[in-house]
Amino acid sequence: MEDIQTASTPKNITVCNSREEGSLKVAELIANEIKAKQEKGENIVLGLATGNTPKDVYKELIRMHKEEGLSFKNVISFNLDEYHPLAPEHHLSYHRFMDEQLFNHVDINRENINIPTGICKVDDVEEHCNSYEAKIESLGGIDLQLLGIGRNGHIGFNEPGSEANSKTRKIELHEVTRGDASNEFEGLEHVPLHAITMGVETITKAKKIVLMAFGKGKAEIMKQAISEPMNSKVPASYLQTHRSIDYILDKEAATLLSQTH
Ligand code: F6R
Repeated sequence: MEDIQTASTPKNITVCNSREEGSLKVAELIANEIKAKQEKGENIVLGLATGNTPKDVYKELIRMHKEEGLSFKNVISFNLDEYHPLAPEHHLSYHRFMDEQLFNHVDINRENINIPTGICKVDDVEEHCNSYEAKIESLGGIDLQLLGIGRNGHIGFNEPGSEANSKTRKIELHEVTRGDASNEFEGLEHVPLHAITMGVETITKAKKIVLMAFGKGKAEIMKQAISEPMNSKVPASYLQTHRSIDYILDKEAATLLSQTH
């Protein structure tokens, strides 16, 4: 695998030849973290994302499980977000996504899977969010957080306006986010108005973060996320000062970076 690294590219930004290469690289990184913890007899707490971006990562992890014996028995997972309201059985829920894209195909213990609920009563949302935070804390925090990025700079569903100290909470989805989901939902009117998401702080507290961005549709927001001063208009910009973040991009998503570095 050949990474395109120019003298001006910061070390923690890897520009891969393709989405496939980037995904293999991320899958390998995750597998190595899982195995390192297994060797110590420890669990690993993974923060997981949905959307198109991580699909090939999950595919490769499944291949590693089936062909190379990679076990997920020591994995405790926390997903970033879920639409609200949306039943877990709904074909577009992130519960379904995770089952279909990863969990149904590996040996993870079902009781180790955590995803914000999309069916919580409005009055119970706050308590649900607080206990999601508390559970992450009680397990020692997230060891490795996988992220995609929205075209509006969201991470998880931390939409523009989300502050650095935000925690798991219910959020109103931004028009860009709902617009991007409207095809899948077969019409904007069917896209949920809200979601439950881990906060920016919940994410930045992770010990390691890997943010992936593929395709030219992510070029402009990657430029802003990496090079603009940190601000709540681009929540992903709050990752800039994280002590261990790797940005994995394909060439298309990186097209505007050379102009800024
Ligand atoms: C999904 C999530 C979102 C996506 C982002 C990019 O769990 O947290 O922030 O990562 O919307 O979506 P894709 O990968 O479909 O471009």
